[in-house]
Amino acid sequence: MKTVCLPNYNIYIDRSFDNYDRFLSDLKGNKLFVVTDENVYFLYKDTFESKIKNKDIFWYVLIDGDCSKTSENALNIVDFLIKNKAKREDVLVSFGGGVITDITGFVASIYMRGINLVHIPTTIIGQIDSAIGGKTSVNYEHYKNVIGTFYDPKLVICETNYLKTLNQHEILNGHGELIKTGLIGNIDILNSLDNNDAVYNPLLISMAIEVKKGFVVNDYFDKSVRNTLNFGHTIGHAIETLTNFEVSHGEAVIIGMLKSIEAGIYLGITNPKLLNNFSEILKNIGYNVPKIKYSDYEKYLFMDKKSNDEGIRFVFLEDILKPKIEIISWSKLKDALVNTEK
Ligand code: GLY
Repeated sequence: MKTVCLPNYNIYIDRSFDNYDRFLSDLKGNKLFVVTDENVYFLYKDTFESKIKNKDIFWYVLIDGDCSKTSENALNIVDFLIKNKAKREDVLVSFGGGVITDITGFVASIYMRGINLVHIPTTIIGQIDSAIGGKTSVNYEHYKNVIGTFYDPKLVICETNYLKTLNQHEILNGHGELIKTGLIGNIDILNSLDNNDAVYNPLLISMAIEVKKGFVVNDYFDKSVRNTLNFGHTIGHAIETLTNFEVSHGEAVIIGMLKSIEAGIYLGITNPKLLNNFSEILKNIGYNVPKIKYSDYEKYLFMDKKSNDEGIRFVFLEDILKPKIEIISWSKLKDALVNTEK
């Protein structure tokens, strides 16, 4: 078992844990309210229940996908908690991918001003990103993650065996975040990615969590260095919105990272050799980047929370492990992105 300790909670990582009671014994409430999606429910309801002996379990099952991450569903979960007489000392559990982690964390933070929260993420993105660092969110209308809070769980349990049932789309989704994490914080993560089974290795997941921890501990509220985790995300989020989430988050982040590297080289910020390194990494995971034009995603760039009328705080890489946050005007960014388009 690997354990990563953040100031307010621990993250336990292993291929599998026989029981969860040992982790939950410090939490007084007798009821466990588990929010999940229909895929995870179908695959792992029995597994989950076999790992809990000492609490009553109540399930809330959402449709799989980003379309479920709405303020309306958040209030529906509140309704479910009220109807089942949930108390603050009871435990709200997120059991699923990033969507489930984000919405459940959000509800935990608003229900009675804070109910015990435990994350049990079942996807790569969930384990290395969404469940770590206390960000919670729901989408509102077209605006992704526009409603949210910072709220820490009591603990996070990552079992890499859950990753074995991920489809190719979801593995690619995870690879996007793993590549980003490797590029900004630990080259060993990148070196592991040519091995197909690497993602099931608790060591890889813990290395990625350690990188995120470094940024979160130094800037919990995302005012400075935590922005680095946004590498590839400004353009990535715009592409997700443009394609109505047909392009997954991780895939959009890969496209966003490539465009950031190309723009960085054009602007003299990025070492040109990085483009070859990045192409090698994509070859290792067997991914071909689709062509998407600036004119198609431009209008969605302006929705980024790190922007204003003049420009945006944009993450470039000077080189591997050398991220650089630049405040760049919209016109300069446009010039770089358009002129590096193939
Ligand atoms: N997912 C980016 C962050 O937690 O800051």
